[in-house]
Amino acid sequence: MADIEALLHETRIFPPPTDIVKTARISGMEAYRALCAEAERDYEGFWARLARENLHWHKPFTQTLDESNAPFYKWFADGQLNVSYNCLDRNLENGNANKVAIIFESDDGKNTTVTYRELHKRVCKLANGLKSLGIKKGDRVIIYMPMSIEGIAAMQACARIGATHSVVFGGFSAKSLHERIIDVGAVAVITADEQMRGGRALPLKSIVDEALGMGGCEAIRKVVVYQRTRSNVNMVEGRDLPLHSLVDDQPEQCDPEWVDAEHPLFVLYTSGSTGKPKGVQHSSAGYLLWAQLTMQWSFDIKPEDIFWCTADIGWVTGHTYVTYGPMAAGATQIVFEGVPSYPNGGRFWDMIQKHRVTIFYTAPTAIRSLIKAAESTPDVHPRKYDLSSLRLLGSVGEPINPEAWMWYYKNVGGERCPVVDTFWQTETGGHMITPLPGATPLVPGSCTLPLPGIMAAIVDEAGHDLPDGHGGLLVVKRPWPAMLRTIWGNPERFQKGYFPHELGGRMYLAGDGAIRNKETGYFTITGRIDDVLNISGHRLGTMEIESALVANPLVAEAAVVGKPDDLTGESICAFVVLKRARPTDDEAAQLAKELRDWVGKEIGPIAKPKEIRFGDNLPKTRSGKIMRRLLRVLAKDEEITQDVSTLENPAILEQLKQSQ
Ligand code: PRX
Repeated sequence: MADIEALLHETRIFPPPTDIVKTARISGMEAYRALCAEAERDYEGFWARLARENLHWHKPFTQTLDESNAPFYKWFADGQLNVSYNCLDRNLENGNANKVAIIFESDDGKNTTVTYRELHKRVCKLANGLKSLGIKKGDRVIIYMPMSIEGIAAMQACARIGATHSVVFGGFSAKSLHERIIDVGAVAVITADEQMRGGRALPLKSIVDEALGMGGCEAIRKVVVYQRTRSNVNMVEGRDLPLHSLVDDQPEQCDPEWVDAEHPLFVLYTSGSTGKPKGVQHSSAGYLLWAQLTMQWSFDIKPEDIFWCTADIGWVTGHTYVTYGPMAAGATQIVFEGVPSYPNGGRFWDMIQKHRVTIFYTAPTAIRSLIKAAESTPDVHPRKYDLSSLRLLGSVGEPINPEAWMWYYKNVGGERCPVVDTFWQTETGGHMITPLPGATPLVPGSCTLPLPGIMAAIVDEAGHDLPDGHGGLLVVKRPWPAMLRTIWGNPERFQKGYFPHELGGRMYLAGDGAIRNKETGYFTITGRIDDVLNISGHRLGTMEIESALVANPLVAEAAVVGKPDDLTGESICAFVVLKRARPTDDEAAQLAKELRDWVGKEIGPIAKPKEIRFGDNLPKTRSGKIMRRLLRVLAKDEEITQDVSTLENPAILEQLKQSQ
């Protein structure tokens, strides 16, 4: 809370640079307010205008918002379009055919460039290939791919034929992949033999094999394998086929499948407060509208920009600001296969210099790790590179602390580039609360104000508005086009989790706490209000990690909490009770390592606890409830000053103070 206090008293303010204001689409706060007022005045008219102006409709919509089955809202429901047509064909028609769509840089620094015409051809061939395998509109396809042109083309090809894709991040384990294949009911997997990251080849296809071998995946008819490293991988006769053999002889044209506006474009799994990840289902039209509009509003994208979002396609940021937004906006973008630390901590700066990047969008964790690298190795300090091409910086995924913000602003942006701190979520489809580069005065550590049409507010537990300066629950009071439509196969969880009764059943509950500044009305996000952690900008549920731990035969009980971390924002601290006696010293260190690796295998390396502490028991109330608030204090190595009178076993606290 001390940090939040400091944030609220942040007085540094950075007005938008005049050259950006002059040419920005939303130029100055008056223009911003005018758009907000338009949305207030005629909410549906506002969105209808934007949807007509910005998207290509095969069949125009006549109804804007259907609230008859709230909170299962529908937008533009009787309209029809195709997302891939909007991202590709539209660019061929409006003079962008020979414009570079993607500059790909491999892990080892080789570049491949594709124009919109070439990308269109690739996507059409793959779409035809998928059709030849019998994949059709409404089928679900799992994509488990590295950052690559092929990965993006796979997503676009699914969109082209109306198949719903579900991308699984390449760092997830076979078990996580298996869970998602089953839950979404996929008929095919598109993957690669291996992925290259930081000079190392990491397996993908063998993990797919392992997942499919876990049973229950009979619906998977085909596995398409992009040969990234050409390593010798197992190919199952009749089921597996190389990507090139699927696409080589396919026609270069594939008529888009026109789908209803509400047709599910994708399902993306994310963590919630139960042990089971939820499949966030997005629409076609509303989602695409927001992807395109936020490229224009938050990034003020211009035809000559070189845009670079460093997110992986396995996360929502990679969906909206790599695969869909930049193409819907006709932009040229960088796609990077590797990691920021390879071959050294100057990789990002080197790439910005080499490709003359103008808009750079990354996560606070990356910034913090590059600050560290620059401080320890002066040769990789951004000042050693020519970063003069940059005109705009962005941050996403977790709170950015004011020191990291200032460093980014000064050393990367040369004090001339606005930093847009974009708050949003997998569920929101695109940016929600963010500065506008040509309008909003910036305050480090604040995501500032909601975008026009986004009715964000802060309320108490009964849904009543709170005055500025009072922390509460972040909600969105009206539906917006890019919101999630449901949780795949679990509408009840959607309704209960996001539109709880206590708040009246119509307000979207973000799951974050927030507070507005009394003077400026600016929002500051104070962190999750549920059992969701944010590790390096990746969302992980404490229950998921606990379930993984207790699945180990040695473990009797486990409780996981978050702990502030200078580098990763938050880190995972697990308290574990074994079925055998509490280990100490070397044995404890050995078992902690074993359990860490176990969690890595169960979920993926990102979920490995940084710290594991063993106890004979966990702090519990008399009714047997684990007292997590005490565990959070212990994890921070702070003294417990809270009331412990309801604690059944106070002696346990002493034991759990020591870490492994
Ligand atoms: O807690 C908020 C945090 O990340 C959560 C959403 O995570 P995810 O669905 O994985 O999407 C990440 C990419 C959009 C939010 O509930 N978060 C995201 N952006 C910010 C943030 N917290 C503070 N400031 C942000 N800019």
